[in-house]
Amino acid sequence: MTDTPAIAAELRRLLPHAHAPYSGVQVAAAVEGADGRIHYGVNVENADYPQGVCAEASAISAAVTSGTKTLRRVYVASSLPGLVWPCGGCRQKIFEFAAPGCEVVAIGRNGETASQTIEALLPHGFRLDPADVRRI
Ligand code: THU
Repeated sequence: MTDTPAIAAELRRLLPHAHAPYSGVQVAAAVEGADGRIHYGVNVENADYPQGVCAEASAISAAVTSGTKTLRRVYVASSLPGLVWPCGGCRQKIFEFAAPGCEVVAIGRNGETASQTIEALLPHGFRLDPADVRRI
């Protein structure tokens, strides 16, 4: 069973690992694969700003690297007050691997949580079936 308080505590521990010297906003994310394993990531900014990577993207890369391609839950915590929801680009990155009904859980600094499905956060997300892709 998913232990949200334990994941929230781990995200809080990881926030200082973020590389966020430009925005000053630390973000940590966790993704739970279909096999129940949890993979973590933090935001990694760059002096060439667009090269920065969001925490969700870092966590998804860790999951895929470890062989996980189906996500059933995503957790996001940040150094900001209030709840942070994934940016638009990260919603699409989550959608790529999301099981139907994949939950996105935003975690606040005091451990408060709110949850939305990826379908609610990204209605009509873009999917591409490799079988349908024509190579000319
Ligand atoms: N950020 C994330 O890591 N995830 C999001 O969903 C929103 C924004 C990062 C990007 C940048 O390093 C910092 O937060 C401020 O935008």
